[in-house]
Amino acid sequence: MTNIAYVNGDYEKIENAKVSIMDRGLLFADGVYEVAGVYNGVIIDNESHILRLQRSLNEIKLTLPIQLDELLLVQKKLIEINKLKEGTLYFHVTRGIGQTREFEFPEGPSPSLIMFVHHKQIMDLPIDRLNAKIMTLPDLRWKRRDIKSIALLPQVLAKQVAHENNCNEVWMYEDGFITEGGSSNAFIIKDNKLISRKNNEKILSGTTRQAVLKLLELEGLIFDERPFTIEEAYNADEAFFTSASVFVMPVISIDDRAINDGMPGKLTLKLRNLYENFAKSSIKKEK
Ligand code: PDD
Repeated sequence: MTNIAYVNGDYEKIENAKVSIMDRGLLFADGVYEVAGVYNGVIIDNESHILRLQRSLNEIKLTLPIQLDELLLVQKKLIEINKLKEGTLYFHVTRGIGQTREFEFPEGPSPSLIMFVHHKQIMDLPIDRLNAKIMTLPDLRWKRRDIKSIALLPQVLAKQVAHENNCNEVWMYEDGFITEGGSSNAFIIKDNKLISRKNNEKILSGTTRQAVLKLLELEGLIFDERPFTIEEAYNADEAFFTSASVFVMPVISIDDRAINDGMPGKLTLKLRNLYENFAKSSIKKEK
């Protein structure tokens, strides 16, 4: 299967696509990123991803290296040349190349934009793939988690520990409360109430979370927006996490304690279904 990446204006085979060793993304993780879902060759909820990218860029005092219209064209072209029907699109912007390894911003910075795709099934997954196991670990990240920074070492290490313990995702905690997943937002359901903490600097404002919460309103379900403890998570009726690459993923155990008798929850599956319908209808509008 062809795999072509975009690197600062060029389209290259992924194995030949390169950035400089002086790129500040490499040296300082000085950059921000997005991952968007793609279905039928169309980006799901691209508007939310672009808005969040612009916000992240703004927070780290960086601008897009190309006009927004052009960025949208690059996204489309990359999906086309890779014949991507279903999967994810990754794109990041770093502060580009510095002459030396100075911490301060280089004079007249020229930001770097890279983009690549990943083919994988994200829609209509069979039920036997909707059964995530969670491990909880301390949240070791910085204090501006609202910025989608490419500095992901705490998540890399935590997700590796979860993986070594046969878990699919980590839920990080701080002061006794769950913050979020290693690469997702965390939710529990108790007594027909959906519980998840509010957006602030402690978590990333998820595009999937935002869409799911709108669907919740339409369904008339109650949203209790507050942090929840690890103990509450163990005792939840249902649990799930959300991201652009997994949509709404049912959780069947947390730290080896079964949730909903080790089965995906009914309400969770309903929300997944609603989100899939939202994703399918949003791409129809784009086409
Ligand atoms: N991660 N919280 C964190 C820490 C994340 O890294 C992500 C996404 C989310 C969910 O955001 P969204 O619904 O917009 O995908 C929440 C992406 C998928 C990743 O790093 O691969």
